Amino acid sequence: MGKTIATLFSGATATYEIRDAALDDSFLWPEEENILGGVSPKRRWDFVTGRKCARFAMETLGINAAPVLAGDKNEPVWPDGVVGSITHTRAYAAAAVAPVSKIFSLGLDAEPDQPLPQKVLTRISNTEELNWVERTRGNEIPHPGKLLFSAKEATYKAWNSATKEWLGFRDAHIIFHIENQTFTVSISRPSSMQKLSGTFGIDRGIIMTAIEIPVS
Ligand SMILES: CC(C)(COP(=O)(O)OP(=O)(O)OC[C@H]1O[C@@H](n2cnc3c(N)ncnc32)[C@H](O)[C@@H]1OP(=O)(O)O)[C@@H](O)C(=O)NCCC(=O)NCCS
Repeated sequence: MGKTIATLFSGATATYEIRDAALDDSFLWPEEENILGGVSPKRRWDFVTGRKCARFAMETLGINAAPVLAGDKNEPVWPDGVVGSITHTRAYAAAAVAPVSKIFSLGLDAEPDQPLPQKVLTRISNTEELNWVERTRGNEIPHPGKLLFSAKEATYKAWNSATKEWLGFRDAHIIFHIENQTFTVSISRPSSMQKLSGTFGIDRGIIMTAIEIPVS
């Protein structure tokens, strides 16, 4: 599934990813360090490396470096003029950022390309999605349940950043188009964002899903 993270988004969005790197917190802003506090080594790596990806992606866009703070629910609070999304999993971290003049909201998620426990699959899926997972498993996509889960997480990040509202797993119905590595999301809650488009890739053991909502 040869899509790299950069190809999941349009040219308006910059991305950066880090794999298997040692912890490097030398560049963390004091404001970001305050958010983190005393946490486990894994959480420290995730946060620090996600912020590093965000910093490098902003630099690619020519945006002056500034801290990415955190809101009440731990959501990233981006510098003025910027939208973005951060993800991390198992020694992998990535960020996508874009100017608000071009992009309304972004959602990026990464998961290990491994099976999703059946219990979780049942909890997050509607009947059609479950049937798709059963049909697809082991054919073109090794772990379609995990891909579905990731697409819902990316959807939540883009949705919540834009609306500040909760979205349940069953509020989003996802249809995958494997041939071009895209998916469409139908949101069942009343909103101006009823249909979203996403892309996905599987690269070196990591499933990546992305939602980019352009300014209309
Ligand atoms: C918030 C959530 C989406 C994070 O996803 P995850 O797969 O657990 O973790 P990831 O590593 O991919 O992402 C973590 C990053 O998401 C970002 N994030 C956290 N809350 C967020 C929110 N409400 N909106 C957008 N981004 C958020 C943060 O940057 C966080 O990293 P950081 O704490 O180091 O800054 C997930 O924990 C969650 O709450 N899901 C339940 C809601 C949901 O997914 N509904 C499905 C709707 S279809």
